[in-house]
Amino acid sequence: MILLGVNIDHCATLRQARYRSAAATTGGAVEPDPVTFALLCERAGADGITVHLREDRRHIQERDVWRLRESIGTRLNLEMSCTPEMTKFALKLKPESVCLVPENRAEITTEGGLDVVTHRRRVAKCVDAMNAAGIATSLFIDADREQIELAAELHAPWVELHTGAYAEAYFTTAKRKKEFARLREGAARAHGLGLVVNAGHGINYVNIAEVRTIPHLHELNIGHSIVSRAVFTGVDEAVREMKARMNP
Ligand code: PXP
Repeated sequence: MILLGVNIDHCATLRQARYRSAAATTGGAVEPDPVTFALLCERAGADGITVHLREDRRHIQERDVWRLRESIGTRLNLEMSCTPEMTKFALKLKPESVCLVPENRAEITTEGGLDVVTHRRRVAKCVDAMNAAGIATSLFIDADREQIELAAELHAPWVELHTGAYAEAYFTTAKRKKEFARLREGAARAHGLGLVVNAGHGINYVNIAEVRTIPHLHELNIGHSIVSRAVFTGVDEAVREMKARMNP
């Protein structure tokens, strides 16, 4: 069984589109509430809830994260940049896992994997702090040899392979083949080094048929497609259908 982590950031994106300056994150007219969304995801079979507390707070707010910490019954995965402030926040929050991602203020969503080779010292510091606190660290990286080998060397227990380039190339046969081979090889390499293999970014109800065949997959983190589908079908059907397609 491949597990499903639902990234609920875009539920908060929708709320912030109207209520950016509201004093509270929920109650009265302030909707949609990402915590309610998360609880509905869990009821439909989600195995974990993922949020990215961005430096610019463009979607998820700190208060959302604390409310999630108190409310959800599965696992909380906090996506964060690798900074001393976020490390401090995570150690206070104690999510089951953190996923270290690059953060560039200009991007709409996370565009590329974390360059562990370039940021080795910062990443190592953060991984060490999380390991000491019993919080599993996942490194969101491109499926490249150097990145994967260094992830293992730094004792990060998990990696999340970036599926964005594959998803973007989906309708371009040659490029898609190349990107898919890169993911398959990366997953095998990571597994061989003892890393838990997750994947995410750009996974939808169509490409999941192929994504699910990447070897050794433990969990997929999916956001945009599930939140979008939920607008039409409701959260329950959106999550159930994705889970069914992940594990037919
Ligand atoms: N995994 C990571 C590390 C992410 O940053 C994101 C969001 O950008 C996702 C998964 C989910 O991507 P998507 O919204 O495209 O499903």
